[in-house]
Amino acid sequence: MSAAIHELTSYDEASLDSIFADLEAEVTAQTSALSSTDAVEAFRLEWLGRKQGRLGQLSALWLKSAPLEAKKTLGVRFNKLKALIEERLEAAQSGSGTSVTVAGLDITLPGTAQRVGVEHPLVRTMAEIVQVFQRMGYSVGIGPEVETDFYNFEALNFPPNHPARDTQDTLVVAEQDGKPLRERLLMRTHTSPVQIRSMLEQDPPLRLVIPGKVHRNDAADATHSPVFHQVEGLCVGDDITFSDLKGTLDHAMKAFFGSAVKTRFFPSFFPFTEPSADVQISCIFCGGKGCRKCKHSGWIELLGCGMVDPAVFASVNQRRIELGREPVYDTSRISGFAFGMGVDRIAMMKYGISDIGLLYSGDMRFLEQFA
Ligand code: DAH
Repeated sequence: MSAAIHELTSYDEASLDSIFADLEAEVTAQTSALSSTDAVEAFRLEWLGRKQGRLGQLSALWLKSAPLEAKKTLGVRFNKLKALIEERLEAAQSGSGTSVTVAGLDITLPGTAQRVGVEHPLVRTMAEIVQVFQRMGYSVGIGPEVETDFYNFEALNFPPNHPARDTQDTLVVAEQDGKPLRERLLMRTHTSPVQIRSMLEQDPPLRLVIPGKVHRNDAADATHSPVFHQVEGLCVGDDITFSDLKGTLDHAMKAFFGSAVKTRFFPSFFPFTEPSADVQISCIFCGGKGCRKCKHSGWIELLGCGMVDPAVFASVNQRRIELGREPVYDTSRISGFAFGMGVDRIAMMKYGISDIGLLYSGDMRFLEQFA
């Protein structure tokens, strides 16, 4: 195995660098292929053997004939090479006897475990809600997070300067003032604009749920985050009634939270539904008896809903005409209902999370609990 020992002819740094790099590479290559105790011992003798060892022979020969000024740098390099040999030898000795090396690959070394990822609790909750509706024949729609004023507000019957716009705490995109109001860009404040986009694209009947991220200029605290998630629903067709809305949401809540859950509907207001309602479910923690979680009322408010306002169908028809499409949402025949719910709140209830910020912190100590 041992290579011929030749004399050194030049002592400049570059040639020494290259010679010692070759020697180090040789040591590394040899030690990564040591497959038995015998091979380890042979390696030790080859390099460090007292009489025949290459390290001793090389240093004796090269140091002896080296000019005085090169001796120091040569000595440093030999020390480094020796340290490498000893370190490699030690590693091989501690592993030898138990290691099985196949073509330089030690198959007995512990492997690098691949960590298995899981869905984020928000993504999982959103998917579960969507599935409940998919089983009822709903399809899934999506829309952009950067919206125009038209889709986010105007087509949903929020007139310009209407106070209902203020309740949405809109984050607007900069430098939009030169545009007509309806074209100005903003971060969507709810998933409802996708109702409009869906009705422009599809003719009735339609039934779809729209999961997605929404943005509001809310200061972050335990229950508010400027980014959160909603699932929107829209069902439009011939003779869709408020009873269909009640039956659908009652079934969905039972499918999601368990069959013991009850629902109740309260009058409410949204510009794009008429009549509108807020839906409460019986408290999933106390079964309706009253506890801290439901503020001793026995009920938890969960979503908004209502019958699609004819003004919404009118703006869809109007926009369809502008786009050269037929205005098929004829309100003498067509009706529908819509609903929207906050995913974060539902996920927090389901998993007992007390601070919404945890859902966005990326903290592994929190996330690993869902693995
Ligand atoms: N978009 C409403 C919000 O973010 C929620 C909502 C209420 C959606 C009623 C609806 C609905 O589709 O019918 O506050």
